[in-house]
Amino acid sequence: MIQDPTQSTPYGTLPPASPMANRKPVSLPRLLEMRARGEKITMLTAYDATFAAVADAAGVECILIGDSLGMVCQGLPSTVGVSLETMRYHTESVARGIRRAQGTAWVIADLPFGTYQESKEQALRSAVVLSQAGAHMVKIEGGGWTAETVRFLVERGIPVCAHLGLTPQTVHALGGYRVQGKSDASADTLRRQAQELQDAGASMLVLEMVPHVLAASVTQSLPHCATIGIGAGKDTAGQVLVLHDMLGVNLGRMPKFVRNFMADGGSIRGAMEAYVAAVKNGSFPDNALHAW
Ligand code: KIV
Repeated sequence: MIQDPTQSTPYGTLPPASPMANRKPVSLPRLLEMRARGEKITMLTAYDATFAAVADAAGVECILIGDSLGMVCQGLPSTVGVSLETMRYHTESVARGIRRAQGTAWVIADLPFGTYQESKEQALRSAVVLSQAGAHMVKIEGGGWTAETVRFLVERGIPVCAHLGLTPQTVHALGGYRVQGKSDASADTLRRQAQELQDAGASMLVLEMVPHVLAASVTQSLPHCATIGIGAGKDTAGQVLVLHDMLGVNLGRMPKFVRNFMADGGSIRGAMEAYVAAVKNGSFPDNALHAW
């Protein structure tokens, strides 16, 4: 029986169905088609059933259960302490929320630190846990050695989103939350690693805190991979923000590339709709804030 998404439940009333409720589920081919025709892809993090359902209803195509939940939900100093069990719990909650609201979003979950670095087999075991919890795709940070892991997972039927630039799990090695790819040498390394990741089968690539010119050139050189920027300018295939940042409820220092969409939207659902509209029409982000 199909559940009425607006019905009352023991937990309250679920968010109203999206005006686009008849949308087909977001799939990888559809995301790559959007990338090919230049329609911007929208992604937000969510960590629980309700926010995930609201983001889906607001038209966000991809929901990321980011390991940023370590800071946002658990109060940790970084993402390094997030466990696979925690990721599994939040992934299950998000997937359940989207399902109950008859949502359509593509669900991506971060493989946390220490759950894929040891071997490709370890990565597969961890990815299976998150896939069985409801993730359609897993995300892993880093370049170089990760290409082999990406190939191993993709060949076994698990779509992978890569992540280059500022990779928060290696914040200590990077010396802090710093812009990456500023020198010619580091930009060349990032370009080469991005190419290797696409060749290994990564169909998405988060580019975090890199100059917008570099993000644009990586995007142009990867026709089979949807680049998703965060602090990387507007010329990527899509954008992602941490939910709490775009709602203006960040407990720490707000990164300068973040816009508080609550000011535009007036409500949580309105903020998410304003974000989707701004990404789609190219008014967010502003390249001037990503010249670094
Ligand atoms: O963990 C996270 O939320 C992320 C995004 C910032 C891309 O990786």
